[in-house]
Amino acid sequence: MCGIVGYIGKRKAVEVILKGLSHLEYRGYDSAGVALMAKDKINIYKAAGKLNNLKEIISKQNEADINTHAGIGHTRWATHGMPSEINAHPHTCNCKSLVIVHNGIIENYKDLKPVLEKKGSKFKSETDTEVAAHLIAYEFEEKKDLLKAVQSAVKKLKGAYAFSVMHKTMPDRIIAARKNAPLIIGVGEGENFIASDIPAVIEYTKKAIYLSDNQVAEIKADSVKIYDENDNLIQNKVECLPFEPVALSKMGYKHYMLKEIHEQPDVVRNILTDKLKNKDAEVVLDDVKLTREQLKKINRIQIIACGTSLHAGLVGKYVIEELAKIPTDVEASSEYIYRNTIADENTLVIGISQSGETADTITAIKQAKAKNSHIAIITNRKDSAMARLADSLLPINAGIEVSVAATKSYIAQLLSLYLLAIYLAENTNKTSSKELSEIKKELLSLPSKLEIILNDTKKVQEISKKYSNSKDFIFIARGINYPSALEGALKLKEISYINATGYPAGELKHGPIAMLDNTMPVLAILNKGTVYDKILSNCEEAKARQARLIGVTNLIDEKHKNLFDDLILIPEISDMVSPALNITVLQLLAYHISEYLGKDVDQPRNLAKSVTVE
Ligand code: AGP
Repeated sequence: MCGIVGYIGKRKAVEVILKGLSHLEYRGYDSAGVALMAKDKINIYKAAGKLNNLKEIISKQNEADINTHAGIGHTRWATHGMPSEINAHPHTCNCKSLVIVHNGIIENYKDLKPVLEKKGSKFKSETDTEVAAHLIAYEFEEKKDLLKAVQSAVKKLKGAYAFSVMHKTMPDRIIAARKNAPLIIGVGEGENFIASDIPAVIEYTKKAIYLSDNQVAEIKADSVKIYDENDNLIQNKVECLPFEPVALSKMGYKHYMLKEIHEQPDVVRNILTDKLKNKDAEVVLDDVKLTREQLKKINRIQIIACGTSLHAGLVGKYVIEELAKIPTDVEASSEYIYRNTIADENTLVIGISQSGETADTITAIKQAKAKNSHIAIITNRKDSAMARLADSLLPINAGIEVSVAATKSYIAQLLSLYLLAIYLAENTNKTSSKELSEIKKELLSLPSKLEIILNDTKKVQEISKKYSNSKDFIFIARGINYPSALEGALKLKEISYINATGYPAGELKHGPIAMLDNTMPVLAILNKGTVYDKILSNCEEAKARQARLIGVTNLIDEKHKNLFDDLILIPEISDMVSPALNITVLQLLAYHISEYLGKDVDQPRNLAKSVTVE
């Protein structure tokens, strides 16, 4: 994780860097730092905690020290060494002539450290990055050139890195390098930018070069030179960046999370516009690059993802098996990696990732690719590393998601999976067109039903307040909404720090029921459908143990009256499509509880939006 920003040009570097870092805080926010290229020296400022702490330190500096035109900055998510000022980047070498910011993990730092110590290195931090600083500094002593020093040093490093490096004797350049960690170079007029992600540069330029793995770049104010792993000068394409700066504003909402939840009806509308014209039209999925013949041969689907994306995958399994009748497994990427999974050329492997950067999922996808499986990637970032591994790239086009807690990207992933399942069913004739038509009709009704929920959130707010002091929370559901229970629990956990768990409702009696008493809230999702009566019985069992029962339902039923302490009624929808509505209620519940508790909704502790380490 971690966010990197670099700038060289006419502007005041510190301002560009701090602003850029504020847009990258989603990548980590436990400490931050900048290094500014002053006359004959490099000034380093660091602070533990949020970026505001660093800003405060910088605001107290002499103008002469911070008014420089080149610099690098970093916002950290700790991997090696606790969050502290000393472990914050930039890191430097003994003589402080060289500075580096790094995103990734240097896996062989423990082997390199004693070798460098023998040469005289004195390490101050517990980080792997400081080892890279010393290594490059020794290479510089020998080569007397920063580009050559970095080129030589990276050949000795194992692991993942995106670096920006400066040396005080070469103030007109910043060297950047990448391997298995994202890095872009924003191209301007007489100025250039370096960043881990687009939001950091979009205000200044819409042109960028995506560095590829093993490339090293020498960036000056008026030139960018890129070298491949054999140190040959090469030409990378200058691409047009896909975002507008407005995507980064809260648009009047108190938090990005709330804004992103409220964007969901439009996100669904956008997805449906091109792909599903009406209930009788076939789904248009030009992104799927399997021929009809290949499609017919697909006899197994594996879905690989992490966190919220994994929960979307679990809904996907239900829908695909129901409609396309293809056996589908869903697995956490981190588990998929370390076993001998069975996949071949007739396996469709679907990687789901909002960021397209999640290291576990990238590794798992590479593993599946090596077995010649067809790789479909469902992602919000069609410019990501994962997208580049895709045989079929299915962008969810949810727009930039800033809040660490994923919301609109989840709904967009669900929609992509519904459409993919229908597409597979249509191409393999596994479900009648009448049945598919019904589901399409339900999908098309989603935006207006989401709006009904979002236009009146009073009840959810009341319930959130009432239960906000709970120490634990249980979410139960059955069938296609079991993943909704998991996702509801994850949302609550990550932004309110309340211990929340999702269970298949039938599993309560096999152990978790022991936890129930009159302090335990149990939220049940009850949809009209085959498992409705079953889950109602599970609610009775919970009530008999005095649990505080909350129901989320699309059915008005007399039986609810004496059973539930609180009830949230949502618009009527088929069981199959209901996860998209139910989750919106659970997102709002988590949001408002977090708000009542005064937690940092958009940047919860210990987390980062994209997890680029395994
Ligand atoms: C979502 O709220 C979480 N912050 C997290 O679980 C996330 O979904 C997970 O890290 C996967 O990220 P990805 O979708 O970008 O791969």
